[in-house]
Amino acid sequence: MTVIRATTMRTTARAPGAARGATARGSSDGGIPALGVPDSTAGFLADGYEFGRRRFELVGGDAFRTRLMGRPVTVVFGAEAARMFTEGSRFSRERAMPSTVQHLLQDKGSVQTLEGKAHRHRKSLFIDVLEPAELGRLRERFVVAWGAQVAAAGGRPLAIADATPLALTRAALGWSGIPIELVDTEKLTEHLISMVDNAGRVGPSNWRARAKRHGTERWASEAIIAVRHGQIAVAEHSPIARLAGHRDAEGHPLSGEDAGVELLNLLRPIAAVSRFLAFTALALIEHPEWKERIRRGNHVDWFVNEVRRTAPFFPVVGGTARGAFDWRGSRVRSGDWVLLDLWATNHDRRIWREPDRFDPDRFATWDGDVNALIPQGPGSVDDGHRCPGEGATIALMEEFARFLVDADFRVPPQDLSSNLRHFPALPADHMRLAFAG
Ligand code: HEM
Repeated sequence: MTVIRATTMRTTARAPGAARGATARGSSDGGIPALGVPDSTAGFLADGYEFGRRRFELVGGDAFRTRLMGRPVTVVFGAEAARMFTEGSRFSRERAMPSTVQHLLQDKGSVQTLEGKAHRHRKSLFIDVLEPAELGRLRERFVVAWGAQVAAAGGRPLAIADATPLALTRAALGWSGIPIELVDTEKLTEHLISMVDNAGRVGPSNWRARAKRHGTERWASEAIIAVRHGQIAVAEHSPIARLAGHRDAEGHPLSGEDAGVELLNLLRPIAAVSRFLAFTALALIEHPEWKERIRRGNHVDWFVNEVRRTAPFFPVVGGTARGAFDWRGSRVRSGDWVLLDLWATNHDRRIWREPDRFDPDRFATWDGDVNALIPQGPGSVDDGHRCPGEGATIALMEEFARFLVDADFRVPPQDLSSNLRHFPALPADHMRLAFAG
């Protein structure tokens, strides 16, 4: 069995420093350099997650200008760049990502499309329903649903990336307060994962996922309306009841469509945690010493943070400048498109010693800078767009790591490498494990 660490994964992309067609030239204002190619879309597709890292190395700085899909863009990375990106409300999320991504992951009317007071108000709903006290029920439901799936497999191998989404969706529904027996959970799971897996694609698979998403949005808004009309009995303080009863900053109830989109903003990312669970399993197999440490109760939190730092998921977040400002000796003008490279920041050697090495112990001395470890976005949860689901993600990953260290399983022969040209990347065989029946 060949085991290749996730960040040195099989990729047909080039070695560092050989960025396709990219030479740097200084900018006319002496600030942020431009790449010497008319458009970098081909380079982005060829280098995948490594696109930014290779070019930051080439220009010797933390920012460069280029074009993607014909549109001028400034790409930045690192904690200082993340601070510039997230502080001072300099950017809106309008036109910040291609519509192929936007429609599958957030869609119009969602918290991510809001700014200022309206955003803070809607965001508080997510923060409330996802507060630590609410997460115990989510963990417990996941453990039960996953245990049932493992038992049902009767010793046959399960691919973690394909099997855990169902347990996560069932856990998410139960936690949210939606009676699980009213839902075709297998179909819903397939639709939620299709949104995640096709967001980074263009063409027919993206269109098919969008068509499915429309159907799932309809189901979600009907569920909200049924809760509002008392046709589904739900607990008073459950997340679904709070979402159905939520009023916007002006005191108006959300439309059924917008509340449905937000319901999907709870269910979809919980199913998507499966992508991190596959990398949790991979890391435990490649670093078996951590099995013993976690079993002894030591630092599962460091381990999970290191998996989140090194696992490829969202490569970048984007923003559109709301007004002009100066940065790095260049003028960023109103309407300019800026991408913050999350992957490069999580591998920034100015922050992380030997960034390509998997080493959870680095978190023993980590200062907790909110702009350094940013797999789920930079900055503040309350005031910015940082993911409100980090606590839930960590709770589910920790639960899964604890399950694995106590489980009796074997690792069938398989390809454990990941192709960094795919968004989101996964171990090639989706991380198959056979649990003792
Ligand atoms: C699988 C692990 C997850 C990853 C990698 C992830 C990643 C992200 C990223 C990169 C953003 C955008 C941040 C920005 O624009 O600055 C985001 C936003 C968001 N995430 Fe997550 N997320 C995950 C899990 C979750 C979970 C479990 C939930 C809820 C149950 C959630 C709900 C949201 C919401 C509602 C937003 C929009 C926040 C806003 O615009 O203010 N995510 N997430």
